[in-house]
Amino acid sequence: MMNQSNETISALVENAGLRHIAFIMDGNGRWANARMMPREAGHKAGADNFKKIVRYCRNIGIRYCTVYAFSTENWNRPKREVDAIMRLLDAFAKEADEEKEIEFHFIGDKSPLEPSMREHLERLEKDTVGRPYVLNIALNYGGRAEIVHAVNALLAEGKTDITEADISARIYTSHCPDPDLVVRTGKELRISNFLLWQSAYAEYYFSDKMWPELTSDDVDDMVKSFAGRKRRWGGLDKA
Ligand code: FPP
Repeated sequence: MMNQSNETISALVENAGLRHIAFIMDGNGRWANARMMPREAGHKAGADNFKKIVRYCRNIGIRYCTVYAFSTENWNRPKREVDAIMRLLDAFAKEADEEKEIEFHFIGDKSPLEPSMREHLERLEKDTVGRPYVLNIALNYGGRAEIVHAVNALLAEGKTDITEADISARIYTSHCPDPDLVVRTGKELRISNFLLWQSAYAEYYFSDKMWPELTSDDVDDMVKSFAGRKRRWGGLDKA
């Protein structure tokens, strides 16, 4: 629903050129621990909040959104927790079949996923091309692995003199502009192998809140913070 305050924020999104926002959804486990709940309950609350936050970003006119759902290192967690996250992703993929406005991409190495889940995700990617909003869900994703994958793809094509543009065209997010703003919740100040190539000139925003408790008001604060920054892309102020 669009209200007066959404309109103001949408204008900021537009004027500040905030096209692509990316989230490291950290803090699900601590959110659950603090409530004497199992970590899996934190991921369920995280998945519910992911849907709310992504919807809000779309409502205020942010066209591209990327979330870090599962890293290449997350396989090292207990099987019970990994299975719970996979079930949430599977359930989300089923809901996504009903979605009409979003182009879905599941970025990362899908090869270790259950074949039926992998087929479902690939079908969603194929069937949703050309829709107005883009959602990238990073799944079995690692930024370094992504760059290695891109370079190997270029070598396999016979390229010898590889340029930045070549790599940008072969990374998993080649259908998107680079992220303008990368957000991490959960009080940690690190990027954990997320969008390493794409974020060379991104702005960063770190929130002390745990992911399940992030609200649309917090997103408004991020947009305001972004709109107040001077992006210089390594150059000098125009003024
Ligand atoms: C980080 O919190 C979060 C994850 C490793 C998983 C994120 C997954 C979801 C939000 C659910 C995915 C589902 C969909 C539908 C996208 P943490 O567990 O590392 O938290 P902690 O640092 O407090 O332990």
